[in-house]
Amino acid sequence: MAGALTTTFLGHQVSNPFLNAAGVLCRTPEDLLQLASSVSGSMITKSCTVEPREGNPEPRYAAAPYGSINSMGLPNLGFEFYKQFAVEHRGKLLFISVSGMSMDENVKMAKDLLPVAKETGCIMELNLSCPNVPGKPQVGYDFTTMREYLQRVSSVYDAPFGVKLPPYFDIAHFDQAAAIFNEIPQVAFLTCVNSLGNGLVIDVDTETVAIKPKDGFGGLGGRYILPTALANVNAFYRRCPTKLVVGCGGVYSANEAFQHILAGASLVQVGTALHEEGPQIFQRVVDEFALLMRAKGYNTIDDFKGKLKTL
Ligand code: FUM
Repeated sequence: MAGALTTTFLGHQVSNPFLNAAGVLCRTPEDLLQLASSVSGSMITKSCTVEPREGNPEPRYAAAPYGSINSMGLPNLGFEFYKQFAVEHRGKLLFISVSGMSMDENVKMAKDLLPVAKETGCIMELNLSCPNVPGKPQVGYDFTTMREYLQRVSSVYDAPFGVKLPPYFDIAHFDQAAAIFNEIPQVAFLTCVNSLGNGLVIDVDTETVAIKPKDGFGGLGGRYILPTALANVNAFYRRCPTKLVVGCGGVYSANEAFQHILAGASLVQVGTALHEEGPQIFQRVVDEFALLMRAKGYNTIDDFKGKLKTL
């Protein structure tokens, strides 16, 4: 029955629609090895910058009552490391997440990655939504700048790529953002959503914030964000019919993964729950998902993808 979970993404066959969310278990060679040997259908690397970064001071990730809060600050081993990983990687579909400190950094990394993407089939996910670098607002919330980033990157990158988006909360913003993505043919998929930025988790006993950077402000993940993630997946699925959508946010089991796919997601990323449970979560979710599909009488993912009913 697990064969029923096989699907294709931009012409690549994957054994199931599940992968890690960029940032979870994907920074070091050891992390990437664990992902590569897990049951995930594909995998993505930590968002990288041109130069390696240590990231923000610790503690910078904490479990919270309904999920997690983090302000990692883009700790990563630098673009060259992840590019070389792509060159040497064999097996499941690989996404390379890039999140430059400036437009020029993103353009440079895109230009350098292009021949590797063409040679190996790896796919770039351009992260325009990290909420955790002090002094750097999320590009995804500034539509003029976002359009410029996408125009500049697509002018040097003539292959399909994706954009990792922050959550949007207003119908006008769904419309405006979708119009920008629809202008740019190389934008082949939208990953919805990054963490819900700049939340604050407080411990009543100690009267203290949960993480150190930015006075405790950080991105929320996990159960806090499932309905917001689903709304963003569905909003862009409806507005961007020539693009694919990748769902991210609040997935702990087949149940939430099924909701993402029903809302229109082609692939589903697992973040907080992967951090909590480790890479064996992929086997559990695959098994649960196969059972759920069988119980519902579905033979393929396309039988229900995007087929959310309204009242
Ligand atoms: O802080 C971080 O490294 C998170 C990045 C992101 O959410 O994109």
